Amino acid sequence: MIIIKTKNYEELSKKAADIIGSVVVLKPDAVLGLATGSTPVGTYKELIKGYEEGKLDFSKVKSVNLDEYKGLTGDHDQSYRYFMNTNLFNHVNIDKANTNVPSGIVEDGEAECERYNQLIKDLGGIDLQLLGIGGNAHIGFNEPCDEFVKGTHLVTLEEGTREANARFFASIDEVPTQAYTMGIQNIMSAKKILLLANGKAKAQAVYDTCFGPIKPQVPASILQLHEDCIVIADEDALSLCVEKGVL
Ligand code: GLP
Repeated sequence: MIIIKTKNYEELSKKAADIIGSVVVLKPDAVLGLATGSTPVGTYKELIKGYEEGKLDFSKVKSVNLDEYKGLTGDHDQSYRYFMNTNLFNHVNIDKANTNVPSGIVEDGEAECERYNQLIKDLGGIDLQLLGIGGNAHIGFNEPCDEFVKGTHLVTLEEGTREANARFFASIDEVPTQAYTMGIQNIMSAKKILLLANGKAKAQAVYDTCFGPIKPQVPASILQLHEDCIVIADEDALSLCVEKGVL
């Protein structure tokens, strides 16, 4: 695990976009595993800038997103499909037909999970998986639990996760209680992983993830076992690591 410390969110976003951009330059038909949440928004802005400046071409890129709320249609303004369209896809030359987000509304949830696992395989795996991190160290929507779940699955969200995400909805009652998420094996099979964290609220999760024991109660801790995992975090997110003298 390589940890890159940045002064602030802006520097974090630029560095993350540089790494993603380099993957796309080296492999124009790269499969990008993408993430939602507020953390990657700055990174997506930088990627859009790279495209506008003619440095990045997404025409052959394919994408698979980590997760989607159960019950939300793709045109719901809080669905992760909508998020991806508005924060990235609508502003670069990616072919929307090559972008994938789990469906939140299919009748047969199990079949959807199987379809998504197969899709990732058919694409030849993920070249780079971008991740944010929850305050409880969740990745995608893999919440702390007693075992790592391998494949795409339906999860019941922790109340803390719903509360944290309620800021995007009109009220907490509107935050879905369940979501579909890639599993830990889907994520760990990516050739390269890039985890982003900013702000004091992530300090404990970042410390536990990078330096704590590897356990499903801290889902992101499994990333310590990945051969090519880069963590980019700002000073606030790394503050506990510094305080504990491990960085
Ligand atoms: C959501 C997403 C995660 C994301 C996390 C953190 O729950 N499913 O993929 O990493 O929130 O969000 P934020 O970046 O807004 O702190």
